[in-house]
Amino acid sequence: MDVTLLLLFFLLKFPGFYGLSWEEWWTYDGISGPAFWGLINPEWSLCNKGRRQSPVNLEPDKLLFDPNLRQLQVDKPRVNGILTNTGHGIVFTVSNGTTEHHVNITGGPLAYRYQFEEIHLHYGLNDQFGSEHSISGYSFPGEIQIFGFNSQLYSNYSEAVHKAQGIVVVSLLLQMGDLSNPELRILTEQMEKIKFRGNRAEVKRLSIRGLLPETDYYMTYDGSTTMPSCHETVIWLILNKPIYITKQQMFGLRRLMQGDAKHPKAPLGNNFRPPQPLNHRPVRTNINFHFVDDKSMVGKQCPSMRKEVHYKANSWKYHS
Ligand SMILES: *[C@@H]1O[C@H](CO)[C@@H](O)[C@H](O)[C@H]1NC(C)=O
Ligand SMILES: *[C@@H]1O[C@H](CO)[C@@H](O)[C@H](O)[C@H]1NC(C)=O
Ligand SMILES: *[C@@H]1O[C@H](CO)[C@@H](O)[C@H](O)[C@H]1NC(C)=O
Repeated sequence: MDVTLLLLFFLLKFPGFYGLSWEEWWTYDGISGPAFWGLINPEWSLCNKGRRQSPVNLEPDKLLFDPNLRQLQVDKPRVNGILTNTGHGIVFTVSNGTTEHHVNITGGPLAYRYQFEEIHLHYGLNDQFGSEHSISGYSFPGEIQIFGFNSQLYSNYSEAVHKAQGIVVVSLLLQMGDLSNPELRILTEQMEKIKFRGNRAEVKRLSIRGLLPETDYYMTYDGSTTMPSCHETVIWLILNKPIYITKQQMFGLRRLMQGDAKHPKAPLGNNFRPPQPLNHRPVRTNINFHFVDDKSMVGKQCPSMRKEVHYKANSWKYHS
């Protein structure tokens, strides 16, 4: 214990010793792992003190049907951008100036217009883990998070991430399947090129809309970013159907490394933060369980979420 503390102290005092900047100096395990993020850097204190943190475990029988929730809208235009191995995960960032129009994310629970900014990919080194959000304690092999910032109130992502109503994240759970989502393939095709930290690859003509599974249903709650600095400015939407990734694509992801070519360190996968307490936050849904015909939702389209289909939401009398 003493030795660990001493080492922690040393590392905290001299992160530069390892050639790392503050922004890089956190991990998904060990003494710089999620339990310590809030202690490493005062600017990240919400990671430990925050009470509206993400991800969370979603309990379908505790969802609250909200008839005010609208359909989520994501603009159609394809975007160009850069895929980067950050050493913490894989991030696709939209390039400026390449699209005439920004891809907007609106509707759903959102009171403002959000501008698509980036995609984060979290995944496991085996199929049992990988997603950040879980459903009834069940984790998926991966999770794709589509980030937008509030472009009506703020001028860019870095400003919005600190501010009220700043960020939306649309989250897609990844499931293993024989046929991949075609837009996901555009990203996974580049994995060979980003094996090490700092590697970048150009991605052309990606459709954000095309990444989404075919569903109008989602769950939504207010939370935080799942990486330092854990700001509690995120409106989360978790779609109720997964998208599919093949074994081969997953194999490609699992070959990526946290370090550079000289010091590759550990594999990049297993880059997920464990679930955080809900602390009485409601998780709302636009699925009106009372009226959904169960049979229409049970089937091959959504095998992994079948469990929650027979959940009853509170018996809402709206419409009846
Ligand atoms: C657009 O991107 C280029 C290259 O990354 C950068 O130099 C420039 O400042 C950016 N422009 C705006 C308006 O953000
Ligand atoms: C997104 O919203 C902005 C601001 O209203 C608009 O200029 C732009 O055309 C929208 N993008 C698309 C693809 O419609
Ligand atoms: C983001 O917007 C703020 C406020 O307008 C500005 O000070 C900052 O330089 C911008 N950051 C980037 C990366 O463009």
